[in-house]
Amino acid sequence: MTPSPPLTLPTYPDPELEAVLQSNLPHELTYALGAPFHLLLPDRFDANVAAFQVVLDEAGVDGRIYYAKKANKAAAWIERCATGGTGVDVASIGELREALGHGVCGEGIVVTGPAKADNLLRIAVLHGCLIAIDALDELERVIVIAQTTRLARILLRHLPPVQLHSRFGMNDSELDTAMRLCGDAADAVRMEGFSLHLSGYAVQPRSDMAGELVELCLKARVMGLQADRISIGGGFAVDYVAAQDWERFTREQTSADYHAGKSFSTSDFYPYHSPVAGADALRSLATRPGGTGNPLAHQLRDAGVMLLMEPGRALLDRAGCTVFRVQGVKTSFLMA
Ligand SMILES: Cc1ncc(COP(=O)(O)O)c(C=O)c1O
Repeated sequence: MTPSPPLTLPTYPDPELEAVLQSNLPHELTYALGAPFHLLLPDRFDANVAAFQVVLDEAGVDGRIYYAKKANKAAAWIERCATGGTGVDVASIGELREALGHGVCGEGIVVTGPAKADNLLRIAVLHGCLIAIDALDELERVIVIAQTTRLARILLRHLPPVQLHSRFGMNDSELDTAMRLCGDAADAVRMEGFSLHLSGYAVQPRSDMAGELVELCLKARVMGLQADRISIGGGFAVDYVAAQDWERFTREQTSADYHAGKSFSTSDFYPYHSPVAGADALRSLATRPGGTGNPLAHQLRDAGVMLLMEPGRALLDRAGCTVFRVQGVKTSFLMA
């Protein structure tokens, strides 16, 4: 029986990376370092950050980009952030230490992980990081820490009404209570605005919710709070493969393509093809109507609200690959 050809999902051609892979360098490195290892192209990271910044400039929106560190552990990215003035989004005490240790200042860090431990909150407050608050008890703990240390900078995270079981954010009545608490504890916390974290990669729900956050800022200002920025989180899709390759892959893949006959439905996969991705997704988000029917960029400008974002994968697009050494091939597996 002839083995069926393995199902493949080719990425877009990348002549620069291809030239490195075709040279002898990866082979030599597998002997020198052992394998697997990551081959990183930090200039691509810088270019991806710059593309997001261009969109902000074109849209006339005051904004700040925070690289979501969870997307990749390599120190190279946060070193680039420290040098280039890009912010970093951290989700744990380990990530916060790494960011600080590689030269990112506290003011350039946003802490976004859900259910934050006391030591994470304490160090974040001491360094002047911006903290996305997910629950009333978290806000109360931050206030207690800040009362004996320094003014805490916070965002209140809004639970997306379309994802009510998310770990990220507070519902409307909790947000009302949180705003009152912030007003009462103005000597301990500076409420800088609101944030959201939506799972998935769709642009319109992000744009709609961003519009709602702008409205919330206006409401919070009436209560005497600063509320001059919103964070729309991450979730900018990456377009790794061409539409026809993605369509073929999702149509043809079966359990025979995976070890131990595992099976996956299309919704289990990251959307490896996306017609609108990366900085273009930001452009689409900023220019399509938000909550009030105006383009989000107009709403932000009119309200004097800054746009923060936490892209992870989108900043790493084409910024590297992993080199594996094939240990061996068992042909009986291919002949199933
Ligand atoms: C709070 C938060 N921000 C940003 C991100 C980064 O997402 P992405 O890599 O899809 O941009 C994540 C990912 O889970 C997240 O949980």
